[in-house]
Amino acid sequence: MFHVKRSPIDRLRSGLAALEREGLLRHDRPDPEGPRPGAGGPGGLSLRSNDYLGLAGSTGAGASRLVGGDLPEHHRVEEAVARWLGVESSLLFSSGFAANVGLVSALAQPGVLVVSDALNHASLVDGARLGRARVLVSPHLDLDAVRRALRERQEVDAWVVVESYYSMDADSPDLATLASICAEHGAGLLVDEAHAAGIFGPEGRGLAAAAGVCPEGRMVGLGKALGLQGGMVAGPAELRAWLWNHARSFVFSTGASPLLAREAYLRLSVVAAADGARERLRERASRLRAGLEQMGLSVRGHGPIVPVVIGPVDETLRIARALQERGVHVQAIRPPSVPRGTARIRMTVNVHLTDADIDHALTAWRAVV
Ligand SMILES: Cc1ncc(COP(=O)(O)O)c(C=O)c1O
Repeated sequence: MFHVKRSPIDRLRSGLAALEREGLLRHDRPDPEGPRPGAGGPGGLSLRSNDYLGLAGSTGAGASRLVGGDLPEHHRVEEAVARWLGVESSLLFSSGFAANVGLVSALAQPGVLVVSDALNHASLVDGARLGRARVLVSPHLDLDAVRRALRERQEVDAWVVVESYYSMDADSPDLATLASICAEHGAGLLVDEAHAAGIFGPEGRGLAAAAGVCPEGRMVGLGKALGLQGGMVAGPAELRAWLWNHARSFVFSTGASPLLAREAYLRLSVVAAADGARERLRERASRLRAGLEQMGLSVRGHGPIVPVVIGPVDETLRIARALQERGVHVQAIRPPSVPRGTARIRMTVNVHLTDADIDHALTAWRAVV
């Protein structure tokens, strides 16, 4: 049992220093004047890219970020995300899945304990599986179980991995308490904000920001509220440097398209300023939730994801089909995606829906249940 209280980031710092001593540390040195993939010109001649047919132009990075695909566009959006979240740095991955797999596997080193919520997304699960740490799956949202796992661990270092807004149950961990448990036990906290960034918190900064906590690592998905593609991991500079050197889904993958990076940069300011849209979204979701609850249905969680637990699979499928016949398209979710006996209809609300649309959906529900 370890009672050493030290920052998990300290260990990353010493790991990076060890790499540096061996001359193995990879730094990012973006050179805005440097050659684009495959190009020569005033910035010099590039003999590093994979842009064999010269087609990358302004749409492809042409190579992994570490071998010549590191572009000013990447840095601009990474700095913007860091500023938005009030952290030191962030790193752009080509998908949220790649970000989570890279993040968790890079930190799940031998001699580390990873405590992972039982309902974590497949990308977090796979990241933990790819790492070489001991992985302990803790019951969903059970903070006592997390505390116990951290208190009783043999490993010096530990990372607790959660989502801030679970997409099958629309529920959330108590991030403020979780962060203090982690701090008390010298563990790092990783929060996947895929479904929360852009939706919750001041300027849409997510549920960690809403709870006033700053986890060691946050994953902001670009594929959901930002309507794009990609994933950003945000946190201290040491975390970014660690991922730059160790996250295999980043190191051994072509850099994200500069087109994507430019668009993400623009979307970020749109999302930060979208308080009106967030308010409309909240109203629409509340209207749908309230209407379903009035019918006596079992509506779970909070926010724009609205799961209605039906129970039996056949009844869930019948309702989904009947709603569809009335022009309301919903997703039936069955085991093994959710536990047996909890098959459900999952709906997501968006700002384009009008009150009339919500009422139309409620009328259809009333007719089929
Ligand atoms: C919670 C969560 N994390 C990560 C991902 C992966 O993100 P992406 O679709 O950008 O790969 C998803 C989405 O599918 C998700 O729901």
